Amino acid sequence: MAKLKPIYICSECGYESPKWFGKCPGCNQWNTMNEELPNSTPLSSVSKGNSAVTQVMQLNEIKEDVEKRITTGNKEFDRVLGGGIVIGSLVLISGDPGIGKSTILLQICQHLGKNHKVLYVSGEESANQIKMRANRLKIDTDKLFLLTQTDVSVIVETIRIEKPDIVIIDSIQTMVYEEISSSAGSVTQVRECTNIFMHTAKGMGIPIIVVGHVNKDGAIAGPKVLEHIVDTVLYFEGEKNYSYRILRGVKNRFGSTNEIGVFEMTGSGLREVENPSLMMISGRPKNTSGTCVACIMEGTRPILAEVQGLVCATGFGTPRRMSTGFDYNRMSMLLAVLEKRAGYFFNNMDAYINVIGGMKLDEPAADLTVSLALVSSLKDKAVDDNVLAFGEVGLAGEIRAVSNCEQRLFEAYRLGFERCIIPFHNYKSLPKEIKVNMDVVPVRNIREAFSALVEE
Ligand code: TYD
Ligand code: MG
Repeated sequence: MAKLKPIYICSECGYESPKWFGKCPGCNQWNTMNEELPNSTPLSSVSKGNSAVTQVMQLNEIKEDVEKRITTGNKEFDRVLGGGIVIGSLVLISGDPGIGKSTILLQICQHLGKNHKVLYVSGEESANQIKMRANRLKIDTDKLFLLTQTDVSVIVETIRIEKPDIVIIDSIQTMVYEEISSSAGSVTQVRECTNIFMHTAKGMGIPIIVVGHVNKDGAIAGPKVLEHIVDTVLYFEGEKNYSYRILRGVKNRFGSTNEIGVFEMTGSGLREVENPSLMMISGRPKNTSGTCVACIMEGTRPILAEVQGLVCATGFGTPRRMSTGFDYNRMSMLLAVLEKRAGYFFNNMDAYINVIGGMKLDEPAADLTVSLALVSSLKDKAVDDNVLAFGEVGLAGEIRAVSNCEQRLFEAYRLGFERCIIPFHNYKSLPKEIKVNMDVVPVRNIREAFSALVEE
């Protein structure tokens, strides 16, 4: 038999090549190409699944099954999934190591364990470690079963025998399928193992949740290489310095994406945050210049965020501009618009923007808020505490309409804001009730927006 030549596969994007590259031609990442041996043996029947259906079907004749879902009892988690876990689906939860993936999964086991048999497969922690964590999270259910195993064939066999209602695999990078020669965590292993779990989930109608670590060095395959295989991809994100975490749906074959769930990491596990707006704006300084509140949409959900701006004289040389939580280039553009169209001069001034709570405002609706925070700091005039503003700023200094205006205003009203500065073109289509309950100020350009603030 001819000797097998190794191939090189990128652990970030899965790019394959017979030659090694320092920089992956697929995704331009450095040092992510790893040597792997191609498969010599045909893959066993486990991975091939059931391929008995060969004839074509007429779409109209296919009977539609109402998708059955299992609710996890965790409102935020269910929301991101689109109302619960769909029977027979494969869900990937990815995130940085230590962000809380194992914690949240163990927590949802508590509710799932009331009516369902749950199999928790861990390739990372010993049964004892999991037990200790479960005690800390006060998990007490008779229907939760643990399996510390990394061999995929054994796991699939166990699923066949035990017939659980739901399976959790923690994590995919520790799983191995012995017919593949590459080591655990390599692209080939991770992909093949996921394929096997996919067939198991679909074939037996058992939902499987798979954990995938995002890794910084290129030695183990990242969850990106799996995204096209699985049904649903959820990202668990958070800043190291903040206790709150966001679960974000980025792909969902059974629901909408862009939904988020907000959690807070506490001493006894993750707590659902039902009112993230309140959390984001709590502790706002009163009567201080350079702060303004925005309302941004996270999926279908409006969330308030506090934007702070600081403008001060440059010590020497070129002025500094810094932005945290808002796009740096967009901030530079806004400074230019403010200068040219409204006559606020920022030359010889350092300008800083910071979004509180580690939030990222990547929506143009935050433009007006950022501009107001900057000008408020420049003029050292505080924006009233009960004022909220949003709108996209164009290069001509005009304020352009944003989507979901009504929902944003409703959220502002709910949290006690009395005055909202909004784009003129959104004003016409607003229902009367909102205009009665709140002082809604429509503005056409940034000049009007500032004078709306100053006149009171
Ligand atoms: P973990 O779920 O192990 O992360 P992952 O599976 O994503 O790698 O989370 C571990 C972190 O969470 C760890 O840094 C400690 C913290 N933590 C708490 O703050 N409170 C808790 O109740 C638990 C269980 C963990
Ligand atoms: Mg873990």
